[in-house]
Amino acid sequence: MAQRLEKTLYIGPFVHCESLAELDVCPNGMIGVDEDGKIAFILRSIKGRRFPNGEDWEEAKIGVILIDSDTHIHAPQYPNAGVFGKSTLLDWLNTYTYPMESSLSNLEQAARVYNRVVARTLSHGTTTACYYATVHVPATNLLADICQSRGQRAFVGRVCMNRMSPDYYRDESVESAVRDTKACIEHVKQIDPLYDLVTPIITPRFAPSCTPEALSAMGRLHHEEQIPAQTHISENKAECELVAKCFPSHKSYAHVYDSAGLLTPRMILAHAIHLSPEERTLIKNRNAKISHCPASNTALTSGTAPVRDMLNEGLTIGLGTDVSGGYTSSILSETREALFVSRHVAYNTGNDEAKLSVEEALYLATRGGAKVVGLENRIGGFNVGMDWDAQMVGLAGVGDTIGIDQTAGPVEIFGQESWEEKMAKWVYTGDDRNTTAVWVKGRLVHSRESFKP
Ligand code: GUN
Ligand code: FE
Repeated sequence: MAQRLEKTLYIGPFVHCESLAELDVCPNGMIGVDEDGKIAFILRSIKGRRFPNGEDWEEAKIGVILIDSDTHIHAPQYPNAGVFGKSTLLDWLNTYTYPMESSLSNLEQAARVYNRVVARTLSHGTTTACYYATVHVPATNLLADICQSRGQRAFVGRVCMNRMSPDYYRDESVESAVRDTKACIEHVKQIDPLYDLVTPIITPRFAPSCTPEALSAMGRLHHEEQIPAQTHISENKAECELVAKCFPSHKSYAHVYDSAGLLTPRMILAHAIHLSPEERTLIKNRNAKISHCPASNTALTSGTAPVRDMLNEGLTIGLGTDVSGGYTSSILSETREALFVSRHVAYNTGNDEAKLSVEEALYLATRGGAKVVGLENRIGGFNVGMDWDAQMVGLAGVGDTIGIDQTAGPVEIFGQESWEEKMAKWVYTGDDRNTTAVWVKGRLVHSRESFKP
């Protein structure tokens, strides 16, 4: 049963992304959130207006508000965040990743890791996360339970992988992979029958980990269950060569997924660095989505994704931390990494247009992420009827501006900044100390004051 909430008026400055290039700023606004956690009304200026029927509305001051989605994160890899040495993808998987993921067969370890990663990502303002779990059914179900009880909107995927990993960590057969994937889908149906907060997601790890039969079986489940899917594509050149070797009759990496019925509007493809123009056209035609993971792509020396080209071609892109290929679980840090990687692309190609603006990077982290997960009508911005998924950003030193927390975080505001400049300072110099509160579906799911990591 959905929890009924106090009807609440959130009063103060709010900021969200109107379009790729444009922030919408209401310095003195008010948002009414109803008992179901939905935005009931928005007043763009409260000056000279009477508040609607004050009696049964709670009032809360807000700071700047944004809504962030992490469209690609490996929850069981969280203990390895920052630990990758000089490895690249294929040796990193064998050295760091498979041993760590296999340790989650132990439910106590899974509880420790999953509670921490959900609490930590919430503390960074991640209201929605697309998680890869492991092959283990009980641990994957536990991750779904933890997201549900901590109130994070989540897509939780049991990983399918039936080849090219150590014997101690893989699916025994296609049949067992299908059985175990179905068991995890059934569990989410039990705890959240309408997939209101937690949704199962079909998760073939990547083409080299799956036989063609396993990929096709996952494609069939994706269609039968009408739930989203996620995988990796074209992250690393050696990986692309391996895919060509494993699937010799296929025209391309993207075609491998397409022929398994996995290239659909509800597929989230992580990385997408080394795709050919033909593959990008195929992905665009299928309306599959892209998760851009710049921190990981730099850490594992995978490459620099051509984000501007993909945006110009009309692809839908969000941001992913890709913990622990990515070192950070903060989608704010990831936003910064996206800005820097776009500058490396500009430098290496001589095309200045490749540089992303702060507004564009914020769009990818918010509305872009919402589109990638198929929830653009529910989250990603402030619109009447949408869910109140939001974070309050405190910016210290703003004087007596309404709703700004004087004590929070490292961002130095001197008072002369425009709102665009304040947001740029937050993106480039802020961290989780600036995220003072986080709500999902109207429920307070994190507050800086009471956070105990
Ligand atoms: N490709 C296959 N598995 C993984 C993974 O866990 N992380 C990343 N970054 N790429 C992968
Ligand atoms: Fe990944």
